[in-house]
Amino acid sequence: VSHVHSSPFSHFFSVIAPVLCAPAVVGAGIGGSATAHFLRQHFGSEVQVDVFEKGAVGGRLATVTVNHNDYESGGSIIHSLNLHMQEFVKQLGLKYRRSVAGKTAVFNGEDMILEETDWYLLDLFRLWWRYGISFIRLQMWVEEIMEKFMRIYKYQAHGYAFSSVEELLDSLGGSGFINMTRRPLSNSLLELGVSQRFIDEVIEPVMRVNYGQNVSIPAFVGAVSLAGAQNNLWAVEGGNKLVCSGLLKMANANLLQAQVSSISPVYTGAVHRSRILATCNLGILQSGYKHHKNLYDIVVLATPLQASVRSGIRFQGFTPAFEELPGNYHSTVATIVHGYLNTSFFGFPDPRLFPFASVLTTETLDLFFNSVASVCPVNISTGFRRKQPQEAGVYKVFSPQPLDKIFLTSQSYYSVQVTEWQAYPCYGSNQGLSPVELHPNLYYLNGIELAGSAMEMSSVAAKNIALLAYHRWNRQTDMVDQKDLMHRIKTEL
Ligand SMILES: Cc1cc2nc3c(=O)[nH]c(=O)nc-3n(C[C@H](O)[C@H](O)[C@H](O)COP(=O)(O)OP(=O)(O)OC[C@H]3O[C@@H](n4cnc5c(N)ncnc54)[C@H](O)[C@@H]3O)c2cc1C
Ligand SMILES: *[C@@H]1O[C@H](CO)[C@@H](O)[C@H](O)[C@H]1NC(C)=O
Ligand SMILES: *[C@@H]1O[C@H](CO)[C@@H](O)[C@H](O)[C@H]1NC(C)=O
Ligand SMILES: *[C@@H]1O[C@H](CO)[C@@H](O)[C@H](O)[C@H]1NC(C)=O
Ligand SMILES: *[C@@H]1O[C@H](CO)[C@@H](O)[C@H](O)[C@H]1NC(C)=O
Repeated sequence: VSHVHSSPFSHFFSVIAPVLCAPAVVGAGIGGSATAHFLRQHFGSEVQVDVFEKGAVGGRLATVTVNHNDYESGGSIIHSLNLHMQEFVKQLGLKYRRSVAGKTAVFNGEDMILEETDWYLLDLFRLWWRYGISFIRLQMWVEEIMEKFMRIYKYQAHGYAFSSVEELLDSLGGSGFINMTRRPLSNSLLELGVSQRFIDEVIEPVMRVNYGQNVSIPAFVGAVSLAGAQNNLWAVEGGNKLVCSGLLKMANANLLQAQVSSISPVYTGAVHRSRILATCNLGILQSGYKHHKNLYDIVVLATPLQASVRSGIRFQGFTPAFEELPGNYHSTVATIVHGYLNTSFFGFPDPRLFPFASVLTTETLDLFFNSVASVCPVNISTGFRRKQPQEAGVYKVFSPQPLDKIFLTSQSYYSVQVTEWQAYPCYGSNQGLSPVELHPNLYYLNGIELAGSAMEMSSVAAKNIALLAYHRWNRQTDMVDQKDLMHRIKTEL
């Protein structure tokens, strides 16, 4: 019998002075920053949490500056029931950015097929007249899904974690939720009794503006997207990325501006210490690279690992071997133009008669953009008002490819800023979901994006991984993948 690896001493020490855990997070977007925050919350104040970031803190939450004001170029809107995001903003003392009213229209390449008016009752009446009961059915469907999804906050508050996205979804909405990640949105809606016309004229434009894709994306992400089209939305004053830098600071995380280039397992024999070696280049801003190798007990990868995103991480020495995950990320180009909107393009030769702040589009061949909207800066002063279309304003255009001409603006514009995002997964309806535990103590956050990509989804995944890592570290199996949680939580209270 070999006792080499578990001497009585290591046991002794782990009782008297538990080995301090050394965790690291790769990526400082909202997912990685929130993970650092939750790791700190669960592992206590003594551990050092290293966070690697190769680019800017915030990741896909970013702003560009136009004419002395900043505008969101990536993730911009947050739902009022996104409770983690809400809690972060509260704890960080940040403020909600007030929304400035503006009307929306849907353009089919030739005409505006749907126009919002000033009069709520008239809009309701017109929707009813045009689509019948479809929009009520849709509203109820989205609400039911949201209600089930919100169970996650209770589970997490009680400390429960899940070892996979499937387990997590199953505990919230049973096999129905998992099925929703596999079947097209359009099928689910037709089955629900939503009319094809409503799908084409309302649902499709919403999918195009939120995910750059059509109604064949899975029903679950479709529901996430529709929740983001309701009217109780907000954003963070000063820019959503302030949440990321704020969380890192509050977590007292050790931010390393470096690209992690490889990850490998290190087997030391000690039970607790199946550690992970992260190699990175530190000091990329100086001449010459400093090669660093750091050993960690826990590593959380909080960046997509698909080839199209180029996280640049190589996995070495794992059995079975794994590499980049299959699938692709969808490119969406955000073009922020300071200038005049060419309202003739939408059939309004006189810009003074153009009443819309944002225009969504149906899926029409040859239409080169998904949406265009007049946007507000991240800091809104009290006297702020939206610019009229006859004035120079700031517009954001989403398109699948860079715009080769500034079609949408009249002859003159002041500036154009282009950000090409690997924005969210290309959603096929028959892809599986990614694993959360890639290897003991090696966790992957962005698999949740295959179910739905949003700031809150990354935050939910961050809390789940911090809890999971904590329970694994402490060998608390009764807090992972438990069934019938609704019932258990009731009886715990
Ligand atoms: C145009 C656009 C609009 C969107 N609109 C919304 C919206 O309105 N509402 C909403 O909720 N969501 C929206 N989203 C989605 C949302 O922005 C993302 O789901 C979310 O920001 C993802 O955060 P993350 O931290 O998981 O990933 P990321 O923000 O991608 O963070 C990953 C980080 O890891 C870093 N990194 C990568 N590889 C390495 C490495 N090897 N070493 C070190 N660091 C590395 C990257 O630089 C990056 O900063 C939108 C996204 C886009 C692009
Ligand atoms: C989900 O799909 C499975 C397999 O197709 C099926 O057995 C199950 O009943 C479905 N669940 C729901 C809630 O529709
Ligand atoms: C929707 O997008 C998918 C994938 O890009 C594509 O195959 C399909 O033809 C598109 N159109 C419809 C109506 O589903
Ligand atoms: C914008 O808002 C943030 C958060 O409230 C604040 O810290 C920052 O100073 C503001 N910037 C400007 C230019 O007003
Ligand atoms: C504005 O749009 C109209 C209609 O598409 C087009 O004919 C015109 O050339 C555009 N103007 C500019 C300056 O691009």
